[in-house]
Amino acid sequence: MAKSLISIQDFTKEEILHVLDVAREFEKDRSQDFLHGKIVACIFFEPSTRTRLSFETAANRLGAKVIGFSDAGNTSIRKGESLKDTIKMVSNYADIIVMRHPLEGSARYASEVASVPVINAGDGANQHPSQTLLDLYSIRQTQGRLDGIDINMVGDLKYGRTVHSLLQALSHFSPSFIFTSPQELRMPAEYKDFLDERHIPYRETSELAEHIADTDILYMTRIQQERFTDPVEYEKVKNVYSLNAQMLAGVRDNMRILHPLPRLQEIAADVDDTPYAYYFRQAENGMYVRMAIISYLLGKR
Ligand code: CP
Repeated sequence: MAKSLISIQDFTKEEILHVLDVAREFEKDRSQDFLHGKIVACIFFEPSTRTRLSFETAANRLGAKVIGFSDAGNTSIRKGESLKDTIKMVSNYADIIVMRHPLEGSARYASEVASVPVINAGDGANQHPSQTLLDLYSIRQTQGRLDGIDINMVGDLKYGRTVHSLLQALSHFSPSFIFTSPQELRMPAEYKDFLDERHIPYRETSELAEHIADTDILYMTRIQQERFTDPVEYEKVKNVYSLNAQMLAGVRDNMRILHPLPRLQEIAADVDDTPYAYYFRQAENGMYVRMAIISYLLGKR
């Protein structure tokens, strides 16, 4: 079976560092044509701006061609075709598949039926490993290291696939976690067990202001309406956090704010103009990192 990236745990620490190093090379030289003749399929069953466009840009910058869809409603899925048959067809056409799907486990399943590598571009509340690699890249760029980071994850820690993947990846680098969320959206027990097994410290709080000053990375996330089955529950928590520039008085000089985006009200616009905001640059980094991921899985770098 071709090597895929479904969970961040599919990559060793060495593979993670290798991808970050290659991404740094791509940042220095954005257009390298060595995937000429390759086809990258981007198939998105859920909305996306950054992930899809940065994967497509990455493929184009590497000289590959892109096929795919961003709305499964325009495909034969609408006529009842199964995910299995869809993946088998696409793997006949493309050299690698980038897939986003709302169902947890769908990406792993796709990798089992595909004859080419599959990159999980997000499967429900489960994993978003390419986001994690760009988050790690952004942490290393802003902090000069990955080891020993104090990271405060804020928002929807229950359904947030980006925080789940990032937590696992950072476990290689002796982090210390603060989990800031409303009671209803706490980090799931399986991830806390994962940290306990590795003796990695974490604290939980509901108060955003409590741990802003003792943090290297403030990792903000959106409360995701699309993950709630009960709209009343969403209404209760949707505005729970709103970071503004005033709240950043007294933070560490090296502190940077990351967010996988899109954001709603959880980061006020006045934060964008502070030296702590890094989220737009973080999204740009996604392009370099995704160039490195595609190259690595196609054995070209
Ligand atoms: N960060 C992220 O996954 O953004 P999109 O949903 O726009 O792809």
